[in-house]
Amino acid sequence: MSDLIMNTYSRYPITLTHGDGMYVFDKAGKKYLDFGAGIAVNSLGHNHPVLTSAISEQAKKIIHISNLYWNEPQIELAEKLVANTPFDKVFFCNSGAEAVEGLIKISRKFGGGERFEIIAMEKSFHGRTTGSLAATGQTKYQKAFLPLLPGIVHVPLGDAEAIKAAITDKTVAVLLEPVQGESGIHPATVEYLREVRKICDENNLLLMFDEVQCGVGRTGELFACQYFGVTPDAIATAKGLAGGVPIGMIMATKRADVLCAGEHASTFGGNPLATCAANVVIDELLGGILDSVKENGKYLTEKLNALKSRNSKIVDVRGIGFMQGAELTVTAAEVIKKAMENGLLLVGAGEKVVRFTPPLIAQKEHIDEMISILENCI
Ligand SMILES: Cc1ncc(COP(=O)(O)O)c(C=O)c1O
Repeated sequence: MSDLIMNTYSRYPITLTHGDGMYVFDKAGKKYLDFGAGIAVNSLGHNHPVLTSAISEQAKKIIHISNLYWNEPQIELAEKLVANTPFDKVFFCNSGAEAVEGLIKISRKFGGGERFEIIAMEKSFHGRTTGSLAATGQTKYQKAFLPLLPGIVHVPLGDAEAIKAAITDKTVAVLLEPVQGESGIHPATVEYLREVRKICDENNLLLMFDEVQCGVGRTGELFACQYFGVTPDAIATAKGLAGGVPIGMIMATKRADVLCAGEHASTFGGNPLATCAANVVIDELLGGILDSVKENGKYLTEKLNALKSRNSKIVDVRGIGFMQGAELTVTAAEVIKKAMENGLLLVGAGEKVVRFTPPLIAQKEHIDEMISILENCI
């Protein structure tokens, strides 16, 4: 613990030193079952043998070179992603917010200076940089930082008519999380997303998904758009893509591939270390983990619903795969603190929702263990 670090987080009073699989350990040696995965990041859990060995081998070869030159892990990753998604092009950066900023720039360029307005969603979360913060549909994060980037309006997720009503001759894009994460796990429906795609096509708008949290295997498909069967023009993703090594990414279809040399860049973006790690994550996901998320995600839903039927403090269970939430009658923070004391790490989402975003390697026995600790804490 240190008072030299800016006070932007309210941290729990433990210092984590190492991890193994689904578990992490603190300085005092206490073991915790990890159902937060560093906020949906550690896709392969901790100390994954293939990931750690690939990273250390890559570090011995080369860590960073900039995008003035080509590097093989980056090309390999781009090929893998394009081959397994409906997208044609990739841009690598370092974080979710940076990827969302890139989407905003793509929409500005697509609008050609004439159109620039983005329709985003209420209760959305897109990041803390000034552009992504303007897209975020929650005033609590914005109020100390006004004025924000203009040209972004918010409508409720799930209301296609509200999108139609918000379109002006300046509108260029619709931006949404197919599963809203931070505000409390709110999935969109297939019908709604199909309707939004239609609206965007009819009005020459870009459809852009923020898959920073719900992408990279959380739904049981590589990306959430593939789970819903609706192809946006571009997605932003980050978090779990490199299993804990910082990375962000935009994927775009040809329609949204509008940026030219010199118009966008990122010094670290797609460096050999991060893309080497992401190659391992994508290989592991395609090699069986996605199937395991599909199966065990259903098991998690069943177990959470069973717990709900035994405990009246749980009023709703929602989500997809390994991105689920339980809405409580009490504040989530109380339960999360108690769970931590009992050896279980969880993350909140909104005031009353406990979020379950375990490493994608979680198995039924881990879900059973989590449920039994949680039951004692609620
Ligand atoms: C949906 C979504 N978009 C964007 C972000 C911002 O990502 P980062 O913290 O990597 O900048 C987050 C972070 O939680 C997120 O959940």
